Amino acid sequence: MTPILRTVAELRALARGWKAAGETIGVVPTMGALHEGHLSLVRRARAECDRVITTIFVNPMQFNNPEDLKKYPRSEEADAALLATVPADLLFAPTPAEVYPEGFVSKVSVSGVAEPLEGRMRPGHFDGVATVVTKLFGMTLADRGYFGQKDWQQLQVVLALVRDLNLPIEIIGCETVREADGLAMSSRNVRLTPEGRAKAPVFYSALTASAADIRAGQSDRMAIREAAEAMRNAGFERVEYIELRDAGTLMPSDDPARPRRMLAAAWIDGVRLIDNIPV
Ligand code: PAJ
Repeated sequence: MTPILRTVAELRALARGWKAAGETIGVVPTMGALHEGHLSLVRRARAECDRVITTIFVNPMQFNNPEDLKKYPRSEEADAALLATVPADLLFAPTPAEVYPEGFVSKVSVSGVAEPLEGRMRPGHFDGVATVVTKLFGMTLADRGYFGQKDWQQLQVVLALVRDLNLPIEIIGCETVREADGLAMSSRNVRLTPEGRAKAPVFYSALTASAADIRAGQSDRMAIREAAEAMRNAGFERVEYIELRDAGTLMPSDDPARPRRMLAAAWIDGVRLIDNIPV
């Protein structure tokens, strides 16, 4: 079984020992309810680092919706068993009081890339992410941090904060892992009813079709409108946004010569899903 640590002091002691022995440390921050998407990051870290720390912390600071925080799936025992199959060297799973002790008054806030899309729909979310990720880097002394492209904007936010604050860590963005029918793996997928789960793959197929149309010369606006329509026809209650953006800055982009990304958020069955693909 993967050893579980709960306190920063214990984690630091272990990490210092590894560093003193000249070993490199990779960290995979997660909120648990682990699936193949998470495990792909842990495997990549395993291949590239001497030591691998996976963290599980359902970070209250990044939940703008208290109901979402309450309903967030938690399965630590199963998670630890899954990690043992890779294996990770360590699972760090602190309590909220350990991460945010009384008197905690600091915040890491990224502007620019953190502002549109998720930043606009979920006020405060990326401050919470940026703060906890900065703390986890400091706690683990990691040389490399592994993040999924599934959360493309989050990956850009982490890259920006590491660059801007000169954090001594290299960020590695890893491909999105999908179910056989294309649905991006997500801890929130377990909240879908069987009916919702059956309709959910339209999210990815609509984005893929729309990106293909744009590459074939259709207007961005028209292709996006058709994707949103396909999703609503399939039973999505709400398409929050579908946007074609510059892949790095996340600003609107109509320049096909630059790397662009189509990013979207939509509700099905009372569950909010996000996805993105290159265009
Ligand atoms: P969580 O949603 O648990 O995701 C943890 C990491 O796994 C993130 O880097 C995410 O992008 C990646 N991931 C999730 N699903 C994936 C998939 N299908 N394919 C590839 N990677 C995937 O993202 C968070 O937690 C939190 O915001 C966190 C960074 C831990 C800060 O609290």
